[in-house]
Amino acid sequence: MKQDMIVILDMGSTANPALARAIRDLGVYSEIHPHDITPEGLKALNNVKGIILNGGENRVVDGVAVEVDPAIYDCGYPVIAIDHPTATCAQKYDAIPEEAVLKSFVFDTCGCEANWNMKNFIEDQVELIRRQVGDRKVLLALSGGVDSSVVAALLLKAIGDQLVCVHVNHGLMRKNESENVVEVFGKQLNANLIYVDATDRFLDKLAGVADPEQKRKIIGAEFIRVFEEEARKLEGIDFLGQGTIYPDIIESGTKTAKVVKSHHNVGGLPEDLQFELVEPLLQLFKDEVRACGVELGLPAEMVYRQPFPGPGLGVRCLGAITRDRLETLRESDAILREEFAKAGLDKKVWQYFTVVPDFKAVGVRNHERSMGYMVVIRAVNTIDAMTASIERLDYDFLEKVVARITEEVPSVSRVCYELTPKPVATIEFE
Ligand code: XMP
Repeated sequence: MKQDMIVILDMGSTANPALARAIRDLGVYSEIHPHDITPEGLKALNNVKGIILNGGENRVVDGVAVEVDPAIYDCGYPVIAIDHPTATCAQKYDAIPEEAVLKSFVFDTCGCEANWNMKNFIEDQVELIRRQVGDRKVLLALSGGVDSSVVAALLLKAIGDQLVCVHVNHGLMRKNESENVVEVFGKQLNANLIYVDATDRFLDKLAGVADPEQKRKIIGAEFIRVFEEEARKLEGIDFLGQGTIYPDIIESGTKTAKVVKSHHNVGGLPEDLQFELVEPLLQLFKDEVRACGVELGLPAEMVYRQPFPGPGLGVRCLGAITRDRLETLRESDAILREEFAKAGLDKKVWQYFTVVPDFKAVGVRNHERSMGYMVVIRAVNTIDAMTASIERLDYDFLEKVVARITEEVPSVSRVCYELTPKPVATIEFE
């Protein structure tokens, strides 16, 4: 193994991810593990150089303070305990130590080398994946999102054609998205890729369904069904690759932190499929996943793409989805993204897209009154998607986008620019 590691034992501090980041910023790899890890579990980790016990706000779970197994202290690793909190020092909860303290522990006490970088991470993961998988096969649902793309590239490097990728096109992808997955993974990287065009299946199931939650449920359930059908056709698959990343784990709840939202990656597919999981990005933060993708040679537009919801354009084609409105949405969204890229706004704005409500508005085309769809432009900035502010798009820029959309998408009669921050609005319309 290339990299030294500091293990943070999660004793209930909400600052654990920030602490891990601070250590990685010193150039030393750090992982967060549950407080009740056993000495054997600890020894099974690679290159552990020291342990930080980090308590905090959630130290008491169901009335009981969490404690580490005392045998941990006898494992021979240097241990530092941060924040043994009391009721009167709440302001100190969940802080991370000063850089000088961390540096002294990590480098002087533990003797770590600053050898955490993506090249070493990839080499380590390749070795770990090979060790886990041996000569068996891994199945991966490749959506084309950042996480699944990076995990696919990493698995491909590690095990080549022992990896089978399945890309399910649910018909709710953005323009050229599925084509790009086929081009990059199927053709350029020569991956074993099964492409399933399930557009009709999804759109038939969604026909007439206007309720947003119902739409989400149908899309989620149908996705699993299609993937499951493909999985059952294959033989000799023992593993399921997943692009789970560290924030997914935190949001899905740890032994001390509460559930924010459950991620479909975590806990995922039906149990009777009985795969063992391969999750090499489990310890990475989003920007590290992107850096890993760049190091693996993935195209920038794949690695730096904006967040895109799992149900895809399904929650932006408002109400009951129709094919013509979905096409209007796909085309207008492609124009918006193209103009954002030309103006360099794609690197600045967090999320930007179009939405098409389920009504028509009056317009004039060819000197005649005509009914057309309304396209809404949304562009927001956020850190954590819990709140969001509006990007103040330039009017000349907006007018150019309006001109292109109305000219190139004949089904459109109007284009609006939406200005509501989150809260009161949410980022998506449904
Ligand atoms: P909202 O609309 O809740 O969106 O302000 C916050 C962030 O979450 C994304 N989003 C989703 N992502 N499945 C997803 O994978 C979903 O059903 C979903 N709904 C919203 C949204 O794009 C934004 O980035």
